[in-house]
Amino acid sequence: MITRRAFLRLVGGSAFAMVSLGAYAVGIEPMLLTHVKRYTLTPPHWPAGLKLRVVALADIHACRPWMTPERIAALAEEANALQPDVIVMLGDYPAGTRIVTGWVNASEWASALSGLKAPLGVFSILGNHDWWEDRSAQAAGAGPTISRKALEAVGIPVLENDVVRLEKDGQGFWIAGLADQIALLPDRAKGRYGLTGLDDLPGTLAKVGDTDPIILLAHEPDIFPKVPRRVSLTLSGHTHGGQVRLFGYSPVVPSAYGNRYAYGHVVENDRNLIVSGGLGFSIAPIRFGVRPEILQIDLG
Ligand SMILES: [Fe+2]
Repeated sequence: MITRRAFLRLVGGSAFAMVSLGAYAVGIEPMLLTHVKRYTLTPPHWPAGLKLRVVALADIHACRPWMTPERIAALAEEANALQPDVIVMLGDYPAGTRIVTGWVNASEWASALSGLKAPLGVFSILGNHDWWEDRSAQAAGAGPTISRKALEAVGIPVLENDVVRLEKDGQGFWIAGLADQIALLPDRAKGRYGLTGLDDLPGTLAKVGDTDPIILLAHEPDIFPKVPRRVSLTLSGHTHGGQVRLFGYSPVVPSAYGNRYAYGHVVENDRNLIVSGGLGFSIAPIRFGVRPEILQIDLG
């Protein structure tokens, strides 16, 4: 016979153990199973001499206990070890869920990301959460957001409707970054009745000054139908592959196109899109059938 107190301790203890096990299964375990998702492709009209390795990180969503600064620093090391020519980050750095045990502030995740190193540089864009979690940017209806300032403070350029020209082995190419397509939350007082984008695709591409190939970074893949053939490859995140994906189908995808751009390599009319399943969580700390991933893309 055990005392009432011991019984309660036992019941409480096993309930706690079960909850912890559940948390481990849905949360911690999938977080540790980060893998490198590799793509090799030669987009149409890609210059013959340009062999380029791009490594991309998407949807980091820093928070405790799922995505600590230590874990982000380890991911940066993993990315560096792939020996990329250039590293790009596809937005959504802050937590995307309230189910966390602690926040990671922008200077912390940015300093962990400052460990990323590649010969041609590290470039970033912002995602919807970089805007949604920033009250003063929402109030102002304009940036710079907290995320942008944090990335710039550690020397990582942020491309919002902007481009950068790089060169490898004498061959130039462009990285174009689109500003977020659903940056501003509805605010009746400001006449915003739905989600408002700050993206300007024609304006961004107009900054490309020659015929060298373009890699477009766009957080949400929904821009893809509007992307001209002039762009060799579009890289997106945001969907997390639906976070739950079974037999190539994601029941819930934050995209107007459902499963069309939920995950992976999409080719439409000679145009290429790669959507990363991302690294962190939004809404709930669950991943099933979509392991956290670092993208390695070999072009050429
Ligand atoms: Fe997002």
